[in-house]
Amino acid sequence: MKPTAVRIYNYLAWSYRKHESRFIDWLWNINTGEKRSDAIPGYSDGHACETLYYWHLKKIFKYLPAREDDVFVDLGCGYGRVLFYAATRGFKHVEGYEIRKELSDQIKINIDKFETESFIEVELCDARKVNLYRVTVIYMFNPFGIDTLRQLMNRIMALNNSIRIAYVYNESIDCRDYMDGLPWTGIEQVPGLPCKIYSFVPKPLYFTEGI
Ligand SMILES: C[S@@+](CC[C@H](N)C(=O)[O-])C[C@H]1O[C@@H](n2cnc3c(N)ncnc32)[C@H](O)[C@@H]1O
Repeated sequence: MKPTAVRIYNYLAWSYRKHESRFIDWLWNINTGEKRSDAIPGYSDGHACETLYYWHLKKIFKYLPAREDDVFVDLGCGYGRVLFYAATRGFKHVEGYEIRKELSDQIKINIDKFETESFIEVELCDARKVNLYRVTVIYMFNPFGIDTLRQLMNRIMALNNSIRIAYVYNESIDCRDYMDGLPWTGIEQVPGLPCKIYSFVPKPLYFTEGI
């Protein structure tokens, strides 16, 4: 294709995805698209708030089918777009954790306006302190750097529970490589996106009878 045609195509695709997302927010009576880049006092490893278009989420969630008893968590949930989307994709129990108060306050307003039968809750909390014992699915869109990611993943792997993690690494290649190196039972690349689905299923315990 000619370079100009590629540029025009990319512009049209971007414009479609942006306006589709605005339309879905309007339809669901929520506001999840703003960008916020304030620094978090005393914490240099946190990234700015941004979100994917619903078009991208649709692609990711194809690889993340909801199961009956799933507890879905977005660590660093920003304005909560993924929480609401997860609820429409069959996740019945959805939780978000966000370190910025102004964002978690906005999500609470969104929750009040969003019609769903799923349970959706948000808490103002550092992702490193979340109790992840019951959690079966985690979504993270590049929320923090490698130091925080390591601390979090050490806790998650120590639980030795079945878990699926959708991790959008964006340009954080060090974080992606670190995630790739953990002892997963499965890794899937979401085609065309900087996102992988990591899954872990613990080995069954075998009991041998005493002699
Ligand atoms: C790139 S945004 C993603 C927002 C949301 N997950 C989405 O996809 O729409 C990352 C978010 O993580 C939050 N964050 C960064 N460090 C955090 C931490 N330690 N605990 C909780 N949230 C954190 C940021 O404030 C920001 O809102």
